Amino acid sequence: TVLYGVIGDPIRHSKSPIMLNRAFKETGVNGAYGAFHVASERLGDAINGIRALGFRGLNVTIPHKIEVMAYLDDIDESARAIGAVNTIVNDGGRLVGFNTDGIGYVRSLMEEAEPDLAGKRIVVVGAGGASRGILWALARQRPGAVWLANRTQDKASELADDLGGKANSIEAIPWERLREACGEADIVVNTTSVGMSPNVEAVPLDPAWLKPGAVASDLIYNPLTTAFLEGARQQGCRIHGGLGMFVYQGAYAFEYWTGLPAPVAAMREAVLESFG
Ligand code: ATR
Repeated sequence: TVLYGVIGDPIRHSKSPIMLNRAFKETGVNGAYGAFHVASERLGDAINGIRALGFRGLNVTIPHKIEVMAYLDDIDESARAIGAVNTIVNDGGRLVGFNTDGIGYVRSLMEEAEPDLAGKRIVVVGAGGASRGILWALARQRPGAVWLANRTQDKASELADDLGGKANSIEAIPWERLREACGEADIVVNTTSVGMSPNVEAVPLDPAWLKPGAVASDLIYNPLTTAFLEGARQQGCRIHGGLGMFVYQGAYAFEYWTGLPAPVAAMREAVLESFG
Protein backbone atom coordinates (compact mmCIF):
# COMPACT_ATOMS: atom_id res chain seq x y z
CA THR A 1 0.00 0.00 0.00
CA VAL A 2 1.29 3.43 -0.94
CA LEU A 3 0.86 6.09 1.71
CA TYR A 4 -0.60 9.58 1.34
CA GLY A 5 -2.03 12.19 3.66
CA VAL A 6 -2.75 15.76 4.61
CA ILE A 7 -1.19 17.79 7.43
CA GLY A 8 -2.72 20.89 9.03
CA ASP A 9 -3.85 22.52 12.23
CA PRO A 10 -6.80 22.19 12.70
CA ILE A 11 -7.36 19.08 10.54
CA ARG A 12 -10.28 17.11 11.92
CA HIS A 13 -12.86 18.58 9.54
CA SER A 14 -10.79 17.86 6.45
CA LYS A 15 -12.72 16.21 3.62
CA SER A 16 -9.51 15.25 1.83
CA PRO A 17 -9.30 11.67 3.17
CA ILE A 18 -12.86 10.89 2.05
CA MET A 19 -12.21 12.43 -1.35
CA LEU A 20 -8.78 10.91 -2.07
CA ASN A 21 -9.57 7.45 -0.71
CA ARG A 22 -12.59 7.40 -3.04
CA ALA A 23 -10.31 8.37 -5.90
CA PHE A 24 -7.96 5.47 -5.11
CA LYS A 25 -10.87 3.03 -4.88
CA GLU A 26 -12.37 4.27 -8.14
CA THR A 27 -9.11 3.88 -10.08
CA GLY A 28 -7.90 0.67 -8.39
CA VAL A 29 -4.83 2.39 -6.96
CA ASN A 30 -3.54 0.62 -3.84
CA GLY A 31 -3.23 3.78 -1.75
CA ALA A 32 -4.26 4.91 1.72
CA TYR A 33 -4.76 8.57 2.66
CA GLY A 34 -4.92 9.87 6.23
CA ALA A 35 -5.32 13.23 7.97
CA PHE A 36 -2.62 14.21 10.46
CA HIS A 37 -2.76 16.96 13.03
CA VAL A 38 0.62 18.70 12.99
CA ALA A 39 1.30 21.75 15.18
CA SER A 40 3.62 24.39 13.71
CA GLU A 41 6.56 23.52 15.98
CA ARG A 42 6.44 19.90 14.78
CA LEU A 43 6.34 20.67 11.04
CA GLY A 44 9.99 19.74 10.44
CA ASP A 45 9.57 16.49 12.36
CA ALA A 46 6.47 15.70 10.34
CA ILE A 47 8.27 16.18 7.03
CA ASN A 48 11.15 14.01 8.24
CA GLY A 49 8.53 11.41 9.13
CA ILE A 50 7.17 11.54 5.60
CA ARG A 51 10.68 10.85 4.32
CA ALA A 52 11.30 8.02 6.83
CA LEU A 53 7.95 6.34 6.19
CA GLY A 54 8.23 6.73 2.43
CA PHE A 55 4.96 8.55 1.84
CA ARG A 56 4.46 9.08 -1.89
CA GLY A 57 2.39 12.21 -1.48
CA LEU A 58 1.25 14.81 0.98
CA ASN A 59 -1.22 17.66 0.98
CA VAL A 60 -0.44 20.64 3.15
CA THR A 61 -3.09 22.94 4.52
CA ILE A 62 -3.41 25.88 6.89
CA PRO A 63 -1.20 27.03 8.60
CA HIS A 64 1.74 25.21 6.96
CA LYS A 65 1.57 26.12 3.25
CA ILE A 66 4.33 28.72 3.44
CA GLU A 67 6.61 27.36 6.18
CA VAL A 68 6.71 23.87 4.66
CA MET A 69 8.71 25.15 1.70
CA ALA A 70 11.85 25.36 3.87
CA TYR A 71 11.83 21.57 4.33
CA LEU A 72 11.53 20.55 0.67
CA ASP A 73 14.22 19.61 -1.85
CA ASP A 74 12.68 21.42 -4.79
CA ILE A 75 9.78 23.75 -5.47
CA ASP A 76 7.94 23.91 -8.74
CA GLU A 77 8.01 27.25 -10.55
CA SER A 78 4.34 28.07 -9.99
CA ALA A 79 4.48 27.28 -6.26
CA ARG A 80 7.54 29.50 -6.02
CA ALA A 81 5.74 32.36 -7.78
CA ILE A 82 2.71 31.93 -5.53
CA GLY A 83 4.87 31.50 -2.43
CA ALA A 84 2.94 28.55 -1.04
CA VAL A 85 2.86 24.75 -1.39
CA ASN A 86 -0.25 22.60 -0.93
CA THR A 87 0.97 19.38 -2.57
CA ILE A 88 4.21 17.44 -2.12
CA VAL A 89 5.39 14.65 -4.40
CA ASN A 90 8.00 12.25 -3.02
CA ASP A 91 10.06 11.45 -6.07
CA GLY A 92 12.27 8.56 -4.95
CA GLY A 93 13.28 10.40 -1.77
CA ARG A 94 13.27 13.91 -3.24
CA LEU A 95 10.39 16.01 -1.92
CA VAL A 96 9.04 18.41 -4.52
CA GLY A 97 6.47 21.10 -3.69
CA PHE A 98 3.60 22.17 -5.97
CA ASN A 99 0.61 24.45 -5.68
CA THR A 100 -2.65 23.08 -7.10
CA ASP A 101 -5.03 25.54 -5.40
CA GLY A 102 -4.97 28.24 -8.07
CA ILE A 103 -5.02 25.89 -11.07
CA GLY A 104 -7.69 23.83 -9.31
CA TYR A 105 -9.80 26.94 -8.93
CA VAL A 106 -9.40 27.99 -12.55
CA ARG A 107 -10.11 24.50 -13.91
CA SER A 108 -13.28 24.39 -11.84
CA LEU A 109 -14.32 27.86 -13.01
CA MET A 110 -13.78 26.86 -16.64
CA GLU A 111 -15.53 23.48 -16.36
CA GLU A 112 -18.46 24.71 -14.29
CA ALA A 113 -19.11 28.33 -15.22
CA GLU A 114 -17.04 30.01 -17.96
CA PRO A 115 -15.08 27.87 -20.43
CA ASP A 116 -13.22 30.77 -22.04
CA LEU A 117 -11.50 33.31 -19.80
CA ALA A 118 -9.59 35.04 -22.59
CA GLY A 119 -10.44 38.73 -22.71
CA LYS A 120 -12.78 38.50 -19.72
CA ARG A 121 -12.80 41.24 -17.07
CA ILE A 122 -12.44 39.66 -13.65
CA VAL A 123 -12.77 41.22 -10.19
CA VAL A 124 -10.98 39.43 -7.34
CA VAL A 125 -11.97 40.52 -3.83
CA GLY A 126 -9.45 39.79 -1.09
CA ALA A 127 -5.65 39.70 -1.00
CA GLY A 128 -5.00 36.88 1.46
CA GLY A 129 -3.40 33.49 1.00
CA ALA A 130 -6.20 32.08 -1.14
CA SER A 131 -6.15 35.04 -3.48
CA ARG A 132 -2.48 34.62 -4.52
CA GLY A 133 -2.76 31.27 -6.26
CA ILE A 134 -6.00 32.23 -7.95
CA LEU A 135 -4.57 35.47 -9.34
CA TRP A 136 -1.53 33.62 -10.65
CA ALA A 137 -3.65 30.99 -12.39
CA LEU A 138 -6.18 33.50 -13.75
CA ALA A 139 -3.39 35.63 -15.23
CA ARG A 140 -2.26 32.64 -17.30
CA GLN A 141 -5.61 32.46 -19.10
CA ARG A 142 -5.09 35.78 -20.90
CA PRO A 143 -7.96 37.68 -19.26
CA GLY A 144 -8.76 41.21 -20.41
CA ALA A 145 -8.18 42.51 -16.90
CA VAL A 146 -7.96 41.26 -13.34
CA TRP A 147 -9.01 43.96 -10.89
CA LEU A 148 -7.88 43.23 -7.35
CA ALA A 149 -9.67 44.94 -4.45
CA ASN A 150 -8.91 44.51 -0.77
CA ARG A 151 -10.19 46.21 2.37
CA THR A 152 -6.57 46.89 3.34
CA GLN A 153 -5.57 48.50 0.08
CA ASP A 154 -1.78 48.28 0.50
CA LYS A 155 -2.02 44.50 0.54
CA ALA A 156 -3.75 44.54 -2.84
CA SER A 157 -1.08 46.80 -4.36
CA GLU A 158 1.75 44.68 -2.97
CA LEU A 159 0.19 41.46 -4.18
CA ALA A 160 -0.48 42.84 -7.65
CA ASP A 161 3.14 44.03 -7.93
CA ASP A 162 4.42 40.72 -6.63
CA LEU A 163 2.59 38.82 -9.35
CA GLY A 164 3.80 40.95 -12.21
CA GLY A 165 1.17 43.70 -12.09
CA LYS A 166 -0.11 45.13 -15.37
CA ALA A 167 2.25 42.96 -17.42
CA ASN A 168 0.14 40.06 -16.17
CA SER A 169 -3.12 42.05 -16.45
CA ILE A 170 -3.37 42.30 -12.65
CA GLU A 171 -4.31 45.73 -11.35
CA ALA A 172 -5.03 46.74 -7.76
CA ILE A 173 -8.01 49.06 -7.52
CA PRO A 174 -9.16 51.21 -4.59
CA TRP A 175 -11.65 49.54 -2.24
CA GLU A 176 -14.10 52.38 -3.01
CA ARG A 177 -14.08 51.39 -6.68
CA LEU A 178 -15.20 47.82 -6.02
CA ARG A 179 -18.83 48.62 -6.77
CA GLU A 180 -18.06 50.23 -10.12
CA ALA A 181 -15.65 47.43 -11.11
CA CYS A 182 -18.26 44.79 -10.29
CA GLY A 183 -20.69 46.54 -12.63
CA GLU A 184 -18.22 46.19 -15.50
CA ALA A 185 -16.99 42.68 -14.71
CA ASP A 186 -17.76 39.40 -16.45
CA ILE A 187 -16.68 37.45 -13.36
CA VAL A 188 -16.52 38.49 -9.68
CA VAL A 189 -14.62 36.22 -7.28
CA ASN A 190 -14.95 36.50 -3.50
CA THR A 191 -11.81 35.07 -1.88
CA THR A 192 -12.49 36.54 1.58
CA SER A 193 -13.67 34.37 4.41
CA VAL A 194 -16.64 36.62 5.16
CA GLY A 195 -18.86 34.62 2.81
CA MET A 196 -19.18 31.95 5.48
CA SER A 197 -21.55 34.22 7.31
CA PRO A 198 -25.21 33.63 6.42
CA ASN A 199 -25.69 37.34 7.09
CA VAL A 200 -25.61 39.27 3.79
CA GLU A 201 -24.86 42.53 5.59
CA ALA A 202 -21.51 41.11 6.70
CA VAL A 203 -20.35 40.55 3.13
CA PRO A 204 -18.37 43.49 1.70
CA LEU A 205 -19.72 42.66 -1.70
CA ASP A 206 -23.29 43.37 -2.75
CA PRO A 207 -24.58 40.92 -5.37
CA ALA A 208 -26.78 43.73 -6.73
CA TRP A 209 -23.61 45.36 -8.09
CA LEU A 210 -23.12 42.57 -10.67
CA LYS A 211 -24.46 42.56 -14.22
CA PRO A 212 -27.12 39.94 -14.93
CA GLY A 213 -25.41 37.08 -16.77
CA ALA A 214 -22.07 37.73 -15.09
CA VAL A 215 -20.47 34.92 -13.09
CA ALA A 216 -20.44 35.24 -9.30
CA SER A 217 -17.84 32.98 -7.72
CA ASP A 218 -17.10 32.24 -4.06
CA LEU A 219 -14.28 30.10 -2.71
CA ILE A 220 -16.32 28.95 0.25
CA TYR A 221 -17.98 25.55 -0.11
CA ASN A 222 -19.53 25.22 3.31
CA PRO A 223 -22.27 26.40 2.87
CA LEU A 224 -22.33 25.21 -0.76
CA THR A 225 -24.23 28.36 -1.72
CA THR A 226 -23.16 31.46 0.20
CA ALA A 227 -25.36 34.49 0.78
CA PHE A 228 -23.37 36.30 -1.93
CA LEU A 229 -24.06 33.53 -4.46
CA GLU A 230 -27.72 33.24 -3.52
CA GLY A 231 -28.18 36.98 -3.99
CA ALA A 232 -26.36 36.87 -7.32
CA ARG A 233 -28.49 34.00 -8.57
CA GLN A 234 -31.66 35.88 -7.70
CA GLN A 235 -30.62 38.64 -9.98
CA GLY A 236 -29.78 36.52 -12.99
CA CYS A 237 -26.08 35.83 -12.51
CA ARG A 238 -24.46 32.47 -13.11
CA ILE A 239 -23.02 31.16 -9.86
CA HIS A 240 -19.91 29.14 -9.06
CA GLY A 241 -19.28 27.81 -5.55
CA GLY A 242 -16.04 26.71 -3.93
CA LEU A 243 -16.61 22.95 -3.95
CA GLY A 244 -15.10 22.61 -7.42
CA MET A 245 -11.89 24.33 -6.33
CA PHE A 246 -11.52 21.83 -3.50
CA VAL A 247 -12.25 18.89 -5.80
CA TYR A 248 -9.87 20.01 -8.55
CA GLN A 249 -6.97 20.93 -6.25
CA GLY A 250 -7.27 17.33 -5.03
CA ALA A 251 -7.65 16.05 -8.59
CA TYR A 252 -4.39 17.70 -9.65
CA ALA A 253 -2.63 16.28 -6.59
CA PHE A 254 -3.95 12.80 -7.46
CA GLU A 255 -2.70 13.23 -11.04
CA TYR A 256 0.77 14.38 -9.92
CA TRP A 257 1.10 11.41 -7.54
CA THR A 258 -0.30 8.63 -9.73
CA GLY A 259 0.01 9.85 -13.30
CA LEU A 260 -3.61 8.79 -13.81
CA PRO A 261 -6.58 11.00 -14.74
CA ALA A 262 -8.50 11.84 -11.57
CA PRO A 263 -12.05 10.46 -11.21
CA VAL A 264 -13.43 13.93 -10.62
CA ALA A 265 -17.14 13.05 -10.57
CA ALA A 266 -16.64 10.34 -7.94
CA MET A 267 -14.46 12.66 -5.86
CA ARG A 268 -17.11 15.37 -5.90
CA GLU A 269 -19.78 12.82 -5.01
CA ALA A 270 -17.73 11.58 -2.05
CA VAL A 271 -17.46 15.09 -0.62
CA LEU A 272 -21.15 15.85 -1.19
CA GLU A 273 -22.16 12.57 0.51
CA SER A 274 -20.04 13.48 3.52
CA PHE A 275 -22.12 16.63 4.02
CA GLY A 276 -25.07 14.27 4.63
P1 ATR B 1 -7.22 33.32 3.13
O1 ATR B 1 -5.97 32.52 3.27
O2 ATR B 1 -8.49 32.51 3.24
O3 ATR B 1 -7.23 34.18 1.93
P2 ATR B 1 -6.42 35.46 4.87
O4 ATR B 1 -5.05 35.32 4.34
O5 ATR B 1 -6.63 35.60 6.33
O6 ATR B 1 -7.32 34.23 4.45
O7 ATR B 1 -7.12 36.67 4.12
C1 ATR B 1 -8.42 37.07 4.44
C2 ATR B 1 -8.91 38.07 3.38
O8 ATR B 1 -10.27 38.39 3.66
C3 ATR B 1 -8.14 39.38 3.41
O9 ATR B 1 -8.09 39.87 2.09
C4 ATR B 1 -9.04 40.25 4.30
O10 ATR B 1 -8.91 41.64 4.10
P3 ATR B 1 -7.77 42.48 4.88
O11 ATR B 1 -6.49 42.22 4.15
O12 ATR B 1 -8.21 43.89 4.78
O13 ATR B 1 -7.76 41.95 6.29
C5 ATR B 1 -10.39 39.79 3.84
N1 ATR B 1 -11.44 40.05 4.82
C6 ATR B 1 -11.68 39.40 5.97
N2 ATR B 1 -12.73 39.91 6.61
C7 ATR B 1 -13.20 40.94 5.85
C8 ATR B 1 -14.28 41.89 5.95
N3 ATR B 1 -15.14 41.87 6.98
N4 ATR B 1 -14.43 42.79 4.95
C9 ATR B 1 -13.59 42.80 3.91
N5 ATR B 1 -12.55 41.95 3.75
C10 ATR B 1 -12.36 41.03 4.70
